[in-house]
Amino acid sequence: AFYKEKYRPQFHFSPKEKWMNDPNGLVYNDGVYHLFYQHYPDSTVWGPMHWGHAVSKDLIFWEHKPIALFPDELGYIFSGSAVVDKNNTTGFGTKENPPLVAMFTYHKMEKERAGDTDYQSQGIAYSLDNGDTWEKYEGNPVIPNNGMKDFRDPKVFWNDITGKWTVLLVGGDHLLIYESDNLKNWKQVSEFGKNQGAHGGVWECPDLFKLTVEGSDEEKWVLFISINPGGPNGGSATQYFVGDFDGKTFISDQKEKRWVDTGADNYAGVTYNNEPNAERIFIGWMNNWNYGQKTPTVTWRSAMTLPRKLTLHKIDGNYYLKSYPVDEIEKIIEKGKTDEYVGITEKVFHHENFNSSEIKFNTAGKNFELIFGNEKDSLSVVLNNKSIVVDRSKSGLVNFDSSFADKVHTANIEALPDTQFEVRVILDAASVEMFLNKGQVIMTEQIFPTKPYHTLKIRSVDGQKLNLHDFQINKIKSVWE
Ligand code: FRU
Repeated sequence: AFYKEKYRPQFHFSPKEKWMNDPNGLVYNDGVYHLFYQHYPDSTVWGPMHWGHAVSKDLIFWEHKPIALFPDELGYIFSGSAVVDKNNTTGFGTKENPPLVAMFTYHKMEKERAGDTDYQSQGIAYSLDNGDTWEKYEGNPVIPNNGMKDFRDPKVFWNDITGKWTVLLVGGDHLLIYESDNLKNWKQVSEFGKNQGAHGGVWECPDLFKLTVEGSDEEKWVLFISINPGGPNGGSATQYFVGDFDGKTFISDQKEKRWVDTGADNYAGVTYNNEPNAERIFIGWMNNWNYGQKTPTVTWRSAMTLPRKLTLHKIDGNYYLKSYPVDEIEKIIEKGKTDEYVGITEKVFHHENFNSSEIKFNTAGKNFELIFGNEKDSLSVVLNNKSIVVDRSKSGLVNFDSSFADKVHTANIEALPDTQFEVRVILDAASVEMFLNKGQVIMTEQIFPTKPYHTLKIRSVDGQKLNLHDFQINKIKSVWE
């Protein structure tokens, strides 16, 4: 049966079948969150790209919809975004029934194969029935190729500062910003990033939004840029910049490189337009281009991260983005009991299936290890004062690609508080998401245990006694039943 297969995520979004990569067209409209995604309906590896489609009322329970956008003579349908054209600036609908407008990249594969470099351009399509059926604009492309080989991934949003539409595009190694009155005629207004941030690979999937620094009135803009390769733990990853945006030009305050998630499996993530609670909600592709087409699933491939709420914080004079699962996930968490473990050096916990569970506690100190599973299949997460170290080399199936477990994955944790902070670990059938101090440090990693983990050992790594407060192991229910 669907959604009972080995490694099938039970509370993360995955396509019914076949290949999926980036989330696309994240927009809320008329009671539903739309999730479109890069999809190849004929295979479990990447191919001619379509936009798959699903909708949800709460970001947790998803309903699959028919494919929204199919390739046409202008090319495959690569990543992009969607807006509600409330004032009908496009004329595609009416003010009474405003169109949903998707903007995406056309990728003309025949041209790429012929050695041409002008194979990417931007197109739009609209829906007058809240995403069920789509019509492509007859004037496509709305932004023809500009001479750049990598010219893609439009993120469009309504810009309150200019009273226009703004679109972000990547052009190889930097960001391009365009504006428009009607989503059809576009003009470039600025660029960013040729000499800033990480450049280990091509820039992809930009996003830009305003957040208020928690506990203050200060407003800052956050820019997301995915890069592949060049991620902190190999392959693809998403960096962020905190800075200012005057409606046309983005200026970064960031001196060092920052990552939305330091785990190996969170890529091409972007945020929702028109989120009804004025929150910034993020979804990423829970995979990595290094090995993403070889993961050991049979009928489908890839899942999305949990939807996460983004917040901005100032810690010791530096801005930090935090990502934390949306509150709606509580709906499917079956709370167990809460315990206190004081003065322990080691403790073993048993659970019917850690691979659909949440482990949560508060602790002070950063010297301990979590080991899931037994000698045969085990996942180790160590906090050694300075770093978190995730070792998935024995976590289950790892040999499908040499880059999957060739090294441990690490992140700096020195900026975590010296006082108590929360450790929250969420495991599904084929993933682990770790949130330290409510998402100040995050590691998202795929794992493929040969059998579900039944034990968790928590132990001190420096002999010091551990205090685990408000300790919970909770079961997470399937959303696909
Ligand atoms: C990112 C990406 C995008 C592109 C899409 C193609 O993962 O490479 O830049 O639009 O995937 O599927």
